[in-house]
Amino acid sequence: MTDTSFPDDFLIGAATAAHQIEGNNVNSTWWALEQRAGSFVSEPSGDAADSLHRWPDDLHLVASLGYHAYRFSIEWARIEPAPGQFSRAMILHYQRQIDGCIERGIVPVVTLHHFTEPLWFAKTGGWAGDTAAELFARYVGAVAHILEPVPWIATINEPNMVACAIGTLRRATGRAPAEPDDVPGAPLGPPDEAVAHGLTAGHHAARELLHERVPSAKVGWTIANQVVQAAPGGEQHADRYRERIEDRFLRESVRDDFVGVQAYSRNVFGPDGPVHDDAPDTRTLMGWEYFPDTVEHAVRHTREVVGNVPILVTENGIATSDDTRRIAYTRSALEGLQRAMADGIDVRGYLHWTLLDNFEWVSGFHPTFGLIAVDRTDFTRTVKPSARWLGEVARANGW
Ligand code: BGC
Repeated sequence: MTDTSFPDDFLIGAATAAHQIEGNNVNSTWWALEQRAGSFVSEPSGDAADSLHRWPDDLHLVASLGYHAYRFSIEWARIEPAPGQFSRAMILHYQRQIDGCIERGIVPVVTLHHFTEPLWFAKTGGWAGDTAAELFARYVGAVAHILEPVPWIATINEPNMVACAIGTLRRATGRAPAEPDDVPGAPLGPPDEAVAHGLTAGHHAARELLHERVPSAKVGWTIANQVVQAAPGGEQHADRYRERIEDRFLRESVRDDFVGVQAYSRNVFGPDGPVHDDAPDTRTLMGWEYFPDTVEHAVRHTREVVGNVPILVTENGIATSDDTRRIAYTRSALEGLQRAMADGIDVRGYLHWTLLDNFEWVSGFHPTFGLIAVDRTDFTRTVKPSARWLGEVARANGW
């Protein structure tokens, strides 16, 4: 490996998630949240990028751009629309996508849970319910047979964000006792313990099941790495925040086959709470600091916590309307990865977030993270220069 090249089997590609691109995921928890009066979600996902129907076009683009890998998720709410009732048609739908990757020479990286669940699952108590892990494993068991060609399976996306967001929301809305936060001004409060427990148990149950049913697959989960740093005097806040939002979840990966690292920006703490030294007009469309070195810090930190578990960067990207900035960000991010890898950190691939301009959870369609633009009325895809640039990097395994 030279300074500017990745190993031959290094995977370069792009990532997506079902709810954000497929459209009309009407039986899911997030759809219900979008429809609620006064919802904190800024607009409904609607047809999203219509990838439920247009996935062959998307795979065609992935292949023709020269990407090695494509990460997408299987939507539990479509597979199991009612408790214990599995849709054969939807299982076949995702099987066609997996096979479609293989036919086009794309390595599929499949996520089994990316922030959304069937509505009926929420009614059982969701991840805080007593049967959460069992119910999740039952769904995973129903799709295990289609995962045989999938070398990388992520059970649950960003359990740390899910548990901390639910904890924060429950305390803010009086559904859990409001407690003074020992990290003043922290963006997210401590996780909801029952939810954290359910997610962890669900991950472990799914991993055991998949090891048995799909022994060739590497199984892990993906963790949002917030790159928590301390300005002078902020060390204690940073340590506390890092532990509760990240490290306790990372430690659950030590027996996994890989850990997915996802990083976008960073959080810096001073003695009085978060500090922001960057110029506001340089922030991304998410309002986040432009900090492409985040991914290097994230993989180094992950290595410190999980040891030698192989790392796959399953998300990294930037919400911007300036595509040259996307290229600059991504190039810096990849250079940082190369530095970390030169120091012996076992990184197996880099999946850019995201393939398509899509539905961004709370913020709607405004923050454009995509390598490919999507027309909001007829869903036409337009490849951006950054998408081609990343394809050249993939073809050359570097630059
Ligand atoms: C999530 C994605 C999301 C991205 C940008 C990650 O937390 O996995 O679904 O779109 O960050 O906010």
